[in-house]
Amino acid sequence: HQNEMSIMIEAHDLLKKFYHHLLVNTKEGQEALDYLLNRGFTKEIIEQFEIGYSLDSWDYISKFLHKRGYSLELMEKAGLLVKKEDTGSFLDRFRNRIMFPIWDYQGKTIAFSGRILTSNQEPKYLNSPETPIFNKSKTLYNFHQARMHIRKKEQVILFEGFADVISATKAGFPYSIASMGTSLTEEQAKLIRRNVESVILCYDSDQAGIDAALRASKILSDVGCYVRISLMPEGLDPDDYIKKYGSEKFKNDVIGASITQMAFKMQYLRRGKNLQDEGERMRYIEEVLKEIGALDKAVEREHYLQQISSEFSVSLEALKEQQAQFNKSEFK
Ligand code: CTP
Ligand code: MN
Ligand code: MN
Ligand code: MN
Ligand code: MN
Repeated sequence: HQNEMSIMIEAHDLLKKFYHHLLVNTKEGQEALDYLLNRGFTKEIIEQFEIGYSLDSWDYISKFLHKRGYSLELMEKAGLLVKKEDTGSFLDRFRNRIMFPIWDYQGKTIAFSGRILTSNQEPKYLNSPETPIFNKSKTLYNFHQARMHIRKKEQVILFEGFADVISATKAGFPYSIASMGTSLTEEQAKLIRRNVESVILCYDSDQAGIDAALRASKILSDVGCYVRISLMPEGLDPDDYIKKYGSEKFKNDVIGASITQMAFKMQYLRRGKNLQDEGERMRYIEEVLKEIGALDKAVEREHYLQQISSEFSVSLEALKEQQAQFNKSEFK
């Protein structure tokens, strides 16, 4: 329903401003503001990303919306309130959290993600549910602000987290976006491809991050993107990294050191293998040959075969013969 949707968006816009006001102007918001400033968020960044704070209250927002004539049923449908099963009364969904507005590609506020202030609460980020105005799988965080920069730079950096996007933007990479805490979808990939070809994936280096990078790079290349991957050093996410080493090092050693998908896979297959050991070396070569065999472009296959050939002093002919054997056995 068109009218209901515009009321939902209007309510999000109103709350975004109210949450922001609570964060920057009130003593209730002071602890949250201190938390953000301690993390290295600046006043400017808090303004630019319209960050806010939701009060530690069960019904402040519900009363606030009621007083302004909003239907609480509709506000529940918009994800801003939750309905209590037993009493049928409405409670605030977001309480005592740092509020990150989520915008659509035009910059309309369509959802929120609320982060806890202390580590003893769960979940760390509470997101709006799917609603008539918020489709997670079609939304990319910060896309509306980044789009112009993405087109100009002809490049986009895709991160896992909101804090990573914000830090990178502050560090001089305004062409930064993130998916919504879920793995990248085909719809998001298509949206990216409509604006740019070259994508850098900058994910955490834990197992989840590696798996996510491999999945995302496949989805992106399937829609025609050219993907490079830069993984963080163990234990740091991009936001941590930028804080620890600064933007210059992030630019040179992370973004500048991004590698192709195949190089990334090769690095990944190498992990934990002792290539001095003949058996493990053979296993590595076999695994890489299978990956190379799956590449679409003959020129690329040739390039990586050459690389393996010279690294391990195996002739190209032998590598190709081995690959041909794999192909045969796959069709048996
Ligand atoms: N996320 C989520 N729900 C959670 C945890 C994470 O939706 N319970 C999403 C958020 O979008 C988050 C992203 O996954 O930004 C990456 O998660 P994580 O790396 O754990 O969070 P950070 O972005 O590093 O957050 P912070 O630095 O604030 O701890
Ligand atoms: Mn302001
Ligand atoms: Mn992570
Ligand atoms: Mn992280
Ligand atoms: Mn982080």
